[in-house]
Amino acid sequence: MAKGRRYLIAGNWKMNGFKKDGKELAKAVAKHLKAAGKDDLPFDLLVCPPFTLIRGVGKAIKGSGVKLGAQDCHAAEKGAHTGDISAPMLKDLGCEFVIVGHSERRTNHGEKDADVKAKAEAAIAAGLTAIVCVGETLEQRDKRQTLAVNRRQVKGSLPKGANARNTVVAYEPVWAIGTGRTATPEQAQEVHALIRAELVKALGEKAGQAVRILYGGSMNPKNAKELMAQPDVDGGLIGGASLKADDFWAVAQGCL
Ligand code: 13P
Repeated sequence: MAKGRRYLIAGNWKMNGFKKDGKELAKAVAKHLKAAGKDDLPFDLLVCPPFTLIRGVGKAIKGSGVKLGAQDCHAAEKGAHTGDISAPMLKDLGCEFVIVGHSERRTNHGEKDADVKAKAEAAIAAGLTAIVCVGETLEQRDKRQTLAVNRRQVKGSLPKGANARNTVVAYEPVWAIGTGRTATPEQAQEVHALIRAELVKALGEKAGQAVRILYGGSMNPKNAKELMAQPDVDGGLIGGASLKADDFWAVAQGCL
């Protein structure tokens, strides 16, 4: 991480947990932050539970400094969209962040860059920070398309009016998600540097340098420090390891 940016450690709980689990996990995360003294830490801590747990988790972390987010939103503000949740609804529940364009959404729900961009713009309009995900598949990496794919996704998914307050980018190589196979720090930095260059091109030097770029994909307490030591890795988007408060906290210790 370069000077001037603050780490963001974000837990993506995906489709896991019932009321009791969510509350316990959230309270345990908050307890770690409290014990550490939240004022002088170099990172923000964020949890993104499934929609059903947002309200309970919000209550459990109230006043703790742990931030609340969601995993997706619809691009429209309201209307006839059965089963969908809008960005203003998330804001109403106390969310500050929303993940958009996760590869599991792109794959399972056919979301394209233009959809992701529209969702990110809806998030920003609602006063949320959009965490915009990009990343190549193994096939694309093997065909040496990694940089082209990530460049195309950043260009196509970046919301209008993006800045360091309302937008975060997450690089999540699809082959590293839930596989136990992590990008090496060099592989991560190579793509993060490309994303940084695209951000600078799109937003100008100052804003482009200020936007945080997270790494996601089998990040764990063992590999977090090395990854976050890279100049353009400004935190993590953590799946599996975010479901255990001690592991999630141990990942955050990689920022120190
Ligand atoms: P894992 O940490 O389980 O690989 O998941 C990463 C991810 O997809 C976070 O959004």
